[in-house]
Amino acid sequence: MAIFSHLKLLLTAGSLLTAAVANPLKKRFDDDDDDDTPLPLVIWHGLGDNFAAEGLRSVGALAEAVNPGTLVYYVHIGNDANSDQSATFFGNVTEQIEKACADIAAHPILSTAPAIDALGFSQGGQFLRGYVERCNNPPVRNLVTFGAQHNGIVQFRACKATDFLCRGAMALLRGNTWSNLAQSRLVPAQYFRDPAQYEQYLENSNFLADINNERSLKNPLYKKNIAQLENLVLYMFEDDTVAIPKESAWFEEVNGTEITPLRARKLYSEDWIGLRELDRKGGLKFRTTPGEHMQLTDKVLNETFAEFFGPLKKRSVVAPGVLGGGDL
Ligand SMILES: *[C@@H]1O[C@H](CO)[C@@H](O)[C@H](O)[C@H]1NC(C)=O
Ligand SMILES: *[C@@H]1O[C@H](CO)[C@@H](O)[C@H](O)[C@H]1NC(C)=O
Ligand SMILES: *[C@@H]1O[C@H](CO)[C@@H](O)[C@H](O)[C@H]1NC(C)=O
Repeated sequence: MAIFSHLKLLLTAGSLLTAAVANPLKKRFDDDDDDDTPLPLVIWHGLGDNFAAEGLRSVGALAEAVNPGTLVYYVHIGNDANSDQSATFFGNVTEQIEKACADIAAHPILSTAPAIDALGFSQGGQFLRGYVERCNNPPVRNLVTFGAQHNGIVQFRACKATDFLCRGAMALLRGNTWSNLAQSRLVPAQYFRDPAQYEQYLENSNFLADINNERSLKNPLYKKNIAQLENLVLYMFEDDTVAIPKESAWFEEVNGTEITPLRARKLYSEDWIGLRELDRKGGLKFRTTPGEHMQLTDKVLNETFAEFFGPLKKRSVVAPGVLGGGDL
């Protein structure tokens, strides 16, 4: 969802790269992995947003303020703000993740880091999980997702009357979710998952059914890579009415009448993607934050960045009030 609707282009892709190349972190990683240099942070924005949006950049600035020296990398599928925003609606998610994987693996600094941290907003959350499962090069230490649709959506979002990009995409979707056109070109269709249409989903879903290892043939790499994370932190917005159902942020199954928690699902008990293994070592965190979809406060972001991002060898920092409370 368009968390940050400012379209103002603050930095061009070119100036970003120049800044990255000039960054002294590279040398420091090569010299010594034991120092207190923070791990780079990769951020993937949500539907309707773009990598250069002011709101997104301010989140990155906050991450740098909390852990000084953090290199923040913004995933971009398009090379300018408009094409990147358009790619949140249109494209083949498999190819988008391949591009993100290739860009990250080729990045002069990210590629030399011993590991990276990752922060995904809304659909960017499940896409970064796709990065972990399929590529993970460099490997992710902690993946934090806010309002992601890990178990899919059952409804397409409502668009603002003036948002023609959104309206165009949604108009194409209606009635065509399982068509080849939608599954190869319309991004939200690729994580649409209605338990009432489960067979069609299994048969046609271009992205989610694969990444969740729901088909009979499981990809063992997906499980291995998720289980190798140090933490997967799943934030759900308490009053989310945009990503339906909001419980998807916690991998819960909602079938109209009932909510089945992750730990009661086969996805977990048969450990299709490594979530149970990760949970048993204490790395699966269920958190909530008040408010509507993507209503983030600096306070929650600061606490999250202090707890999960920063140097590789950081001592475990436990932010006040999070022990016990939000985690299940
Ligand atoms: C999406 O892209 C991948 C990789 O190019 C391709 O194998 C797959 O068939 C595409 N999906 C659809 C539904 O066209
Ligand atoms: C929803 O799930 C519950 C528990 O698995 C099941 O008993 C119920 O029949 C399901 N309802 C629908 C509408 O599928
Ligand atoms: C978040 O952290 C930054 C940097 O440490 C600080 O300047 C800011 O006041 C903090 N904001 C809140 C709401 O805690």
